Amino acid sequence: MTSATSFLFFAIHLGCIRAGKSSETFVKLECEEEYHGVYGQQSLLECNVKAVQNVTILTVTWKRVGGDAPLLEYHKHVNASTLGFKFAEPSWNKDNMNVSLLLTNTKMADKGEYECMVRTDSGDATATVSLSVTAMYKSPTMSSSPENCIKQNTDVTIFCNSTGGHQKGLIWWFDEFGTNCTGSAELVAKKTDDTLFSLSSKLTVLKATYSGSTNYSCTVHNTNGVQEGKASFEIPFVCSAGSKDDFASDSTTQWLAPVGFIGSLVIGLLAALLIFKRRSVQRARRQSTFPLMSHNGHPNDRHHDDEAEGNAILTV
Ligand SMILES: *[C@@H]1O[C@H](CO)[C@@H](O)[C@H](O)[C@H]1NC(C)=O
Ligand SMILES: *[C@@H]1O[C@H](CO)[C@@H](O)[C@H](O)[C@H]1NC(C)=O
Ligand SMILES: *[C@@H]1O[C@H](CO)[C@@H](O)[C@H](O)[C@H]1NC(C)=O
Ligand SMILES: *[C@@H]1O[C@H](CO)[C@@H](O)[C@H](O)[C@H]1NC(C)=O
Ligand SMILES: *[C@@H]1O[C@H](CO)[C@@H](O)[C@H](O)[C@H]1NC(C)=O
Ligand SMILES: *[C@@H]1O[C@H](CO)[C@@H](O)[C@H](O)[C@H]1NC(C)=O
Repeated sequence: MTSATSFLFFAIHLGCIRAGKSSETFVKLECEEEYHGVYGQQSLLECNVKAVQNVTILTVTWKRVGGDAPLLEYHKHVNASTLGFKFAEPSWNKDNMNVSLLLTNTKMADKGEYECMVRTDSGDATATVSLSVTAMYKSPTMSSSPENCIKQNTDVTIFCNSTGGHQKGLIWWFDEFGTNCTGSAELVAKKTDDTLFSLSSKLTVLKATYSGSTNYSCTVHNTNGVQEGKASFEIPFVCSAGSKDDFASDSTTQWLAPVGFIGSLVIGLLAALLIFKRRSVQRARRQSTFPLMSHNGHPNDRHHDDEAEGNAILTV
């Protein structure tokens, strides 16, 4: 490290760390001035007690600047904490100089100034830190209308949706040649709950063809223009593998079902006919062995014909 960069390093380091006011110079509270939290995630407000000699912590109080009730308090063996605020160190005790505060589930309302007060057997120290909270847009999801099996030269609407931002964001569109198509898109921003936004942008591609762009990308940006997510989408001209199978099996079952039904009906009927006729033939033969003839003329001949007919059908 050159002396210039090391100087810069120390300057930045010192700039980031603000020593808390202390009534005695033996005890200091070192925290960073500013912390950046993300909605729905943990936030760590790090503060460490620094002393020239070993000290024992008597009390620790974390509260919002201007707030009355402490968020987290340790006083001898008694402590109090508000839900969602705790010592960052899992099993904190009075000998642990790391008095950092952990917000287990950061909310937009947690944005603000916090004060940490520590009393030790060798003096007191206080520090204030500020927490900013941002909410990021999630990676966009894309879809089209029609959903699938799009024919060439038809108009296609592509959607790019994202949620999670705490301010109204932006969605930009690009075709596969890198052309910015944002101007042709329509953005709708809605508040999903009291704090977060959902964005839905639609781009209509007129008379889409294979020869034009078939792959569109969208990027989601926060209100300051910083990109927070990206997705791309291929216009589903051909039926995609899954849906193609679905379509095929659907249509197959659609025409196979009646065919199968009729087929089995025909086969069943033929089989029934054959069995019936064979039985009649057998019966006729058995009858013909008797001297007595049946009433209806020449059953033997008829049954013979039928049997021949039945065999013919069977061989078909
Ligand atoms: C401070 O405490 C550590 C252990 O906690 C001990 O080893 C050390 O001797 C102590 N120093 C003083 C100055 O009391
Ligand atoms: C302090 O509070 C924590 C929960 O935040 C609890 O687990 C612990 O037992 C408490 N300690 C005392 C001494 O009351
Ligand atoms: C203080 O505790 C937190 C949570 O365990 C940890 O992330 C941080 O590194 C600790 N700071 C120091 C200086 O040890
Ligand atoms: C995006 O939003 C539009 C309009 O609300 C909706 O029709 C479309 O299905 C959504 N697409 C996805 C992938 O969520
Ligand atoms: C794309 O177009 C939008 C709206 O016209 C514009 O705000 C944005 O800066 C453009 N982005 C790029 C990367 O050109
Ligand atoms: C669409 O374009 C993006 C880059 O813009 C690329 O990452 C992606 O793989 C492409 N998709 C297809 C299916 O070619």
